[in-house]
Amino acid sequence: MQFDGKVALITGAANGIGRATALAFAARGAKVMVVDRDAAGAERTAGTIQQQAGQARFHVSDVTKSADVQAYVKAALDAFGSIDCFFNNAGIEGKVAPVAEYDEAVFDQVIGINVKGVFLGLRHVLPVMLKQKSGAVVNTASVAGLVATPGMSAYVASKHAVIGLTKAAAGEVARSGVRVNAVCPGPIDTRMIHSLEGQLNPADPASVGARYQAALPIGRYGTAEEVANVVLFLCSDLAGNVTGAQYVVDGGRTATGGSVTAMPKS
Ligand code: NAI
Repeated sequence: MQFDGKVALITGAANGIGRATALAFAARGAKVMVVDRDAAGAERTAGTIQQQAGQARFHVSDVTKSADVQAYVKAALDAFGSIDCFFNNAGIEGKVAPVAEYDEAVFDQVIGINVKGVFLGLRHVLPVMLKQKSGAVVNTASVAGLVATPGMSAYVASKHAVIGLTKAAAGEVARSGVRVNAVCPGPIDTRMIHSLEGQLNPADPASVGARYQAALPIGRYGTAEEVANVVLFLCSDLAGNVTGAQYVVDGGRTATGGSVTAMPKS
């Protein structure tokens, strides 16, 4: 799990899971290219790494725009010379509404960022890794890529698509020394989960949070750092035979169908 001399490129790295993963890579020796459309947040992540004596640069990009994606790939190569690990992570949650009422523009926005953004990342990073004959990609899917959350159709569709892209790409590049996997977080304590709490009950989001967490077998939200740990494993040589896989980090949610435990409290 050491990444000395390696280069990690991370989208959505201004906040949440991407930021935690950027810090974790840097703490283990990687040079990090922080990518986000949130310029202040991206600068903050790179600044934190530099304060901790790590190496980082940031690049402001919208992952839905091909020219921006090509520019962040070029920025990583210009700064550090290679891309060894790519965490293709930027995403949004969209709105909570039934399919029968879902806003078309929001649907397009969710698919644009969560699917096209991930596709464009693969489209422009894989050629670099194929040329290097090495590299590891982790795409951020979700447990919503494996099972549905009613009320989140665009998000669920987008994350199922991320798993499809992961499998297809993994099969294409497996003989070339490049691995492509997906990480599937359950509810994680970042802005995103609190946005969903607020959408479900604007007057009392904390009550939604308490109910959600009580329904998880582990009894709490995951942390961004716990997702980062799995991303680093998947990017490391320890995962040399792991490709096209979906790694669930969800406190037991999908294993149990999200049901509350019937076991007596220990
Ligand atoms: P977050 O909202 O804290 O971070 C997402 C980051 O992506 C932000 O910094 C945002 O500026 C960036 N971003 C959004 N659209 C972008 C665009 N078009 N171009 C460039 N950057 C863009 O949320 P979080 O939780 O860290 O989400 C990261 C990933 O994890 C997302 O793909 C999300 O779907 C996924 N995820 C999150 C879960 C959670 O419960 N927090 C659960 C499962 C998956």
